[in-house]
Amino acid sequence: MKLDDTLGADPWHFARPDLAVAYLAAFDLRLSSARGLFARRRMGKTEFLRHDLFPAARDRGYLVAYTNLWDDQDTPDTALLAALRDALVPQGMKGMIAKLRSPISKVKAAAKVPGIAEGSLEADLTTGTSDKALALRDTLKVLDRQKKQLLLIIDEAQVLARESHANFAHALRAALDIRKDSVKVIFAGSSEHTLREMFAKSSEPFYNWAPLEPFPLLSEDFVAFTIDKLNSMAKHPLTFKQGMHAFEELHRTPEFFKRFVERYMLYQTLGAGSALEHTKASVFSDEHFAKQWDRMLPADRAVITMLAKGASDMHSAAGLKQLGDMIGKTATKNTSSQALRRLQAANAIARLSIGEYRIEDEAFAEWIRRRG
Ligand SMILES: Nc1ncnc2c1ncn2[C@@H]1O[C@H](COP(=O)(O)OP(=O)(O)OP(=O)(O)O)[C@@H](O)[C@H]1O
Ligand SMILES: [Mg+2]
Repeated sequence: MKLDDTLGADPWHFARPDLAVAYLAAFDLRLSSARGLFARRRMGKTEFLRHDLFPAARDRGYLVAYTNLWDDQDTPDTALLAALRDALVPQGMKGMIAKLRSPISKVKAAAKVPGIAEGSLEADLTTGTSDKALALRDTLKVLDRQKKQLLLIIDEAQVLARESHANFAHALRAALDIRKDSVKVIFAGSSEHTLREMFAKSSEPFYNWAPLEPFPLLSEDFVAFTIDKLNSMAKHPLTFKQGMHAFEELHRTPEFFKRFVERYMLYQTLGAGSALEHTKASVFSDEHFAKQWDRMLPADRAVITMLAKGASDMHSAAGLKQLGDMIGKTATKNTSSQALRRLQAANAIARLSIGEYRIEDEAFAEWIRRRG
């Protein structure tokens, strides 16, 4: 995966240079060396991290490592080490290593490169077999000899919160702790709930390590940019107002809005209304949602339906009465709190404050509402 803006020739990418600079400027102030940001699914986190923040940091003289742990949920350690290695190994070396691949003796020879200790690179390159915590320490020692600061971007960082990755997470935290001046970290994720747990629970490795804040969402200027782009190519232009209407109807979700634009481009003569209807029908009716639904217990389905429809107090007498009617038996506070707990554990909902919950995936919420 190539991560620089040479690939970013995507004409539809709405650049957010100011936001990128704002994150980097905060690091320059040294108020914190790590930040956590969250937003719901499909809101543009990854696109921003890869196509705005990554190149902006590089332009400021950072070495940059990006990893998306979602792709390697079982082996986040390997993914993270690979990203660090990509950031640290000089360009010329990469080709050499790729050619050499496995035989360690040859890699050893290749590792005799100024500025990089032979042993450390070797440890890094043999991560398939060696102790990951050790490999991490060795890789970061290579970094210690660089003049540049490192920006480590960990996308879908909540994967690190899993019990099975606890050892590596502790090692990572320890290694980063002693390098607050030279390594800045951005944690991003779509599960607010899990990220909160990661930073707010004293038993967790990243307790109190990074302030967690919402990722600023795309809004009117993104719509204006996209509609302008569309109008420069389309026979039948759209107005900004039509664009905003579609954006709102699609719950201000950039991914869905782009699908609407694509649909409109292909079937312009059918009009914006038809493109919107088509988009809504396709994005809010994923069979994936049906599967998720089928796996849920009746009480969980009832509770999430109530949340989707805007119910606020699950535990009130009226709330429990409604819940009871839906599941066909008496519901107690225990029924609703157990369901809420299971839904949170499955990352279906997030707790915002006491008694206040939100469905993590707005498309799923809409799908539930549409079930009627
Ligand atoms: N700045 C942008 N310019 C143009 N399109 C964008 C932008 N940000 C997001 N999009 C569109 O929205 C889609 C989803 O964005 P992205 O994958 O970054 O979301 P995400 O928040 O990382 O979602 P997830 O939590 O599912 O990983 C992109 O594939 C792209 O089509
Ligand atoms: Mg993403």
